[in-house]
Amino acid sequence: RMDVMEVFNGILFPGHLHTQDSLEIALKFPFQDTDILIASYPKSGTTWMQEMVTLISNRGDPHLSQTVPNWARAPWLEQHYFAAVLEASSITPRVITTHLPHHLLGLTLQSSKAKVIYVSRNPKDVLVSFYHFHKMANFLPEPGTFPEFLNRFLEGTLSYGSWFDHVKEWTSQTATMSNLLHITYEEMSLDPHGTIKRVSSFLQCPLMDDEVNNCVKHCSFSSMKDNKMVNYTQIAEEIMDHSKGSFMRKGKIGDWKNMFTEEQNQYFRSVFKSKMQNCILEFVWD
Ligand code: PPS
Repeated sequence: RMDVMEVFNGILFPGHLHTQDSLEIALKFPFQDTDILIASYPKSGTTWMQEMVTLISNRGDPHLSQTVPNWARAPWLEQHYFAAVLEASSITPRVITTHLPHHLLGLTLQSSKAKVIYVSRNPKDVLVSFYHFHKMANFLPEPGTFPEFLNRFLEGTLSYGSWFDHVKEWTSQTATMSNLLHITYEEMSLDPHGTIKRVSSFLQCPLMDDEVNNCVKHCSFSSMKDNKMVNYTQIAEEIMDHSKGSFMRKGKIGDWKNMFTEEQNQYFRSVFKSKMQNCILEFVWD
């Protein structure tokens, strides 16, 4: 079976991609000061940010992003192939991706000046995107009905743990970690030029206007949907069932409205309110 899960520190991880060893190794990874780490809860805009960072590092030239798969140019720290991919790659600066919560990774990160970009997305869209992804990704368990999945999201018992804890922990670091930049999916969507400029200046790679424009063009939803190096269509059918959906699904803000009933929305809001009560973050919902 492909959907066996690993439990690590009380959090579920897909066993197809993670082992106890790979997770242990991730927590001891020696980051270099020049590394760029993209951290996110799944379905928050991870792949989009991987593309932005690759394009920025290449001053808008799409060659690398069109010839090397995203998982090879920005590998996931906690996955079992990570060490092998990193060793085989000569791409600099190194771009590393993680879905790990901050309480697992914080100590490791403290010993370097690696630049961290945390990406978040409004949780109703995260939940809907994750639900559809569970249907096509054979390494994740069947999602069950939407109300069942919604409950598991609110309980924090899906893969990679609680969205609430993930976002609160990582974003609370922005006050103390000067090398952490928080970017939202909604900002990427509503202001791609501004986002590219913010990310490029954070990475100390300022760009000319035409370079910014090229980055925006090549990381648009339509470009990425057509780019085999990033749209996951090259992944074997037994791992991702492309007849059940596509990774580049809709790419929109507010798709939750097509799934949530009014009652589910009320319930979500009450749980959200109680779990996020000390959190000053504001979300864009539509
Ligand atoms: S994963 O599996 O955690 O790496 O997924 P992640 O990349 O974080 O999130 C996938 C969702 O991001 C959407 N996406 C985009 N939206 C707009 N523009 C661009 N360029 C883009 N690239 C990826 C993707 O379609 C998934 O969202 P949904 O809502 O399912 O469409």
